[in-house]
Amino acid sequence: MITEIIKIDPDNIDDSSLDRAAEYLKRGELVAFPTETVYGLGGDAFDPGASKAIYAAKGRPSDNPLIIHIAEVSDIYDIGVDIPGEAELLAKAFWPGPMTLIVKKNQRVPYETTGGLDTVAIRLPSHPVARALIKKSGKFIAAPSANTSGRPSPTKASHVKEDLDGRIPCIIDGGAVDIGLESTIIDLTEDIPTILRPGAISLSDVIAVTKKAQMDPGLKKEDETVRPKAPGMRYRHYAPKGQLTIVCGDKDSVIEKIRQCCKEDRDAQKSVAVIASSETADRYEGILVFDIGAFEREEDIAHNLYDTLRQLDERGIESIYSESFDTPHVGTAIMNRLIKAAGHRVINA
Ligand code: TXA
Ligand code: MG
Repeated sequence: MITEIIKIDPDNIDDSSLDRAAEYLKRGELVAFPTETVYGLGGDAFDPGASKAIYAAKGRPSDNPLIIHIAEVSDIYDIGVDIPGEAELLAKAFWPGPMTLIVKKNQRVPYETTGGLDTVAIRLPSHPVARALIKKSGKFIAAPSANTSGRPSPTKASHVKEDLDGRIPCIIDGGAVDIGLESTIIDLTEDIPTILRPGAISLSDVIAVTKKAQMDPGLKKEDETVRPKAPGMRYRHYAPKGQLTIVCGDKDSVIEKIRQCCKEDRDAQKSVAVIASSETADRYEGILVFDIGAFEREEDIAHNLYDTLRQLDERGIESIYSESFDTPHVGTAIMNRLIKAAGHRVINA
């Protein structure tokens, strides 16, 4: 299959290009498109065939449910049932934006889209191209991140092409995304709103709206007896090909420890690289450093994370050390993804 790339400027959306992309969705075919978080791989959410095609293109296990993207808040009533009051409050506070809500599904939503679950994930994205595409298609759009299963989520159209060229009919190139990490998923089917995947909207942001909320206890690695509730959070994910190790501790000890580890690996003939903040990037003389952004600008670190992991793969680096980035607001989400990418290999300096 030849993959058509359609360029659309988010600041000046060309209607005929949008039409062209929407036609694929109307025919039950797939289109990768930008959202403010990461690129998504979209298909008609009520068409089981489209959902199956999404799983096939990504090589994704079919028990890992998809998120349904909508264009208006009121659309949730066409997808979910027994929708609790918190949904409206959260929607008012954070939609359009990087938040996904889990509610009970209605009969129109096929099990192919929810991975067999009776609940459904819904998100109203803020990206102008995403919203325009959903509206134009006249459908609700099921869309996981547009990467091959197990690779970092795509933050540029070129990442999507790397993974899915020849496997899907169309990619909309709307430039680099804004946030760079997937949406915060909030489960509203439990007694208390529960974050199943941390994102740009933090636990305290949610608590400010709903009064109470919690992190999914299954996200804590220390307790092996509880599994993450979101199926996708159970899989090994976002892993670079090289061995990634995260080093924690006070700044100077971390730098010292990483330099020492790099020396040992090089002595063992391995290629090495470091992921560092802009503030510390120049303290690793003679070592290949990926400056991920300033600690003081945590949104830059989130934005650059997946692209950095992809670059490390491209370079075929065998041993990678990363500083840790427990920044005040997005730090929980950044570290959640980074620790998964490292397969939980974290050492203390
Ligand atoms: O930012 C995002 O959310 C991006 C963009 C494209 O919108 N999408 C995204 O989708 O990250 P995906 O498929 O890569 O991740 C969806 C996550 C998975 O971890 C999945 O297990 C979880 O949402 N999920 C979906 N439906 C669920 C449900 N009913 N119950 C629990 N978890 C669910
Ligand atoms: Mg994904």
